[in-house]
Formats: sequence, C-alpha cells, structure tokens
Amino acid sequence: MRKKLVITIDGPAGAGKSTVSKILANKLDYVYLDTGALYRALAYKALKLKIEFEDPFALKSLCSDTEVILKNIGGQMKVYVDGEDVEEKIRTEEVGLAASKISAFAVVREKLLELQRKAGGQGGIVAEGRDMGSVVFTNADYKFYLDATFEERTKRRHKELLLKGKPSEYKSIQKDMMERDKQDKEREIAPLKAPEGGIKIDSDNLSIEEVVEKIISNISVGSP
Ligand code: DC
Repeated sequence: MRKKLVITIDGPAGAGKSTVSKILANKLDYVYLDTGALYRALAYKALKLKIEFEDPFALKSLCSDTEVILKNIGGQMKVYVDGEDVEEKIRTEEVGLAASKISAFAVVREKLLELQRKAGGQGGIVAEGRDMGSVVFTNADYKFYLDATFEERTKRRHKELLLKGKPSEYKSIQKDMMERDKQDKEREIAPLKAPEGGIKIDSDNLSIEEVVEKIISNISVGSP
C-alpha cells in the first residue's frame, strides 16, 4: 500500500496557501485541511457574541461553550460551529483579523489542536496554516513555507475580494494585512515562522500552477 503522506503548507496571509493546497490535495487525492477556518469559526462566534478579544476569561468561556467540528465534504474538511455551516460567513477581512487576534491565546490554540491532529492522523492530508510544520504536525513527511512580498500579498487579497464581489479598498487591505502579519509573527505561542527543515517557496514571480509544480517536484509519494 502506498504511504499516505502528511504535507504541511505554512505562510503569511495572502501567500496563496489555500489555492495551492486545494489543488495539491486534489491532484494527490488527499484531504485538504484549512486550519485558518477553525480560528475564523471561533472568531465568527466571538464577533457574534460581541466578546472582548483581549479578555482571556471570555475566550475561555467561548471555547468551553462552543462545539467546533470538521466534516469531510468531498475531500475538503468543512467547519461547523454549534451545528452551523459557517463556510461563507467566515470569509471576511473582519473575521480574519479577529481570528488572528484570538489565535494568540493558549486556550484557543489548545481547543483546536487535537481537532487538527485527529484530522491528519491517518495521513493523506494537505494541512495549511501558520503552525502546521512547526507545532501541529512536527513529524510531517513534507513541510513547505509559502511566502511573497507584502505588496504582492496585498494586491492578491484585494483582487480576490473584488472577484468575489466583496467590497475592498486597497488601503484598508494594506492596513489589515500589516496588522495580521505583526500579530501572527510576533505572538508568543506558535508564531508564524518557517518550520525547521521546511522548503521555502517565494511565489512572487510564480503562477499558482508553477507553485504547485514546484511542490510536487519536491515530494515523492512512493509507488503503489
Ligand atoms: O489562513 P487564514 O487567513 O484563514 O487564518 C486566519 C487567522 O487564523 C490567521 O491570521 C492566524 C490564525 N491561524 C493560526 O493562528 N494558526 C493557523 N494554523 C491558522 C490560522
């Protein structure tokens, strides 16, 4: 039997992780795990309940009172919060920024850690996030760190939102992106960083397909 690998892809917001991971998982017939969606899901509920992001006690109650589950829908792990499919609602800049804020707290990270490990336990997974290679799947078969310049990532995010028909102002995306980079990289627990032994890919001058090809050229899935 061919070994089912664990492949991790980390990197900052707007580096192209989601698109690349989805295509890669599809090509390998693996499951795609978007771990940012888990943090976004909790942030969505925090916003709904108007919880103070900096209040560890409120976050602790939020974590103990919220059921977050993952369901494999056609090879993609979808997040449900208290039984609600939140996929569409969590894809806003507001939720992304809130997710970045609450993800700095240990209680939040602990709640989501086991869920992620369980999803990847059997292998056959492409897991994407900030700490996949450095914390969650330290024994992953292949670790990648996808990056691009700040300008390029801001441009991509702006374009992506416009294409989705969502209102987007370049200046405000720039501001949010800067704040998110700072929060994700400077937090004490599981900060965003290239994992040890990971392969770094700078996607500034590469198309999505070229990034996927680069990743595939670095992995060996073994013979059936
Ligand atoms: O990938 P994303 O933009 O959907 O992630 C939203 C936020 O969630 C991100 O800014 C930081 C947090 N996050 C995290 O701390 N660890 C992960 N593995 C994934 C996301």
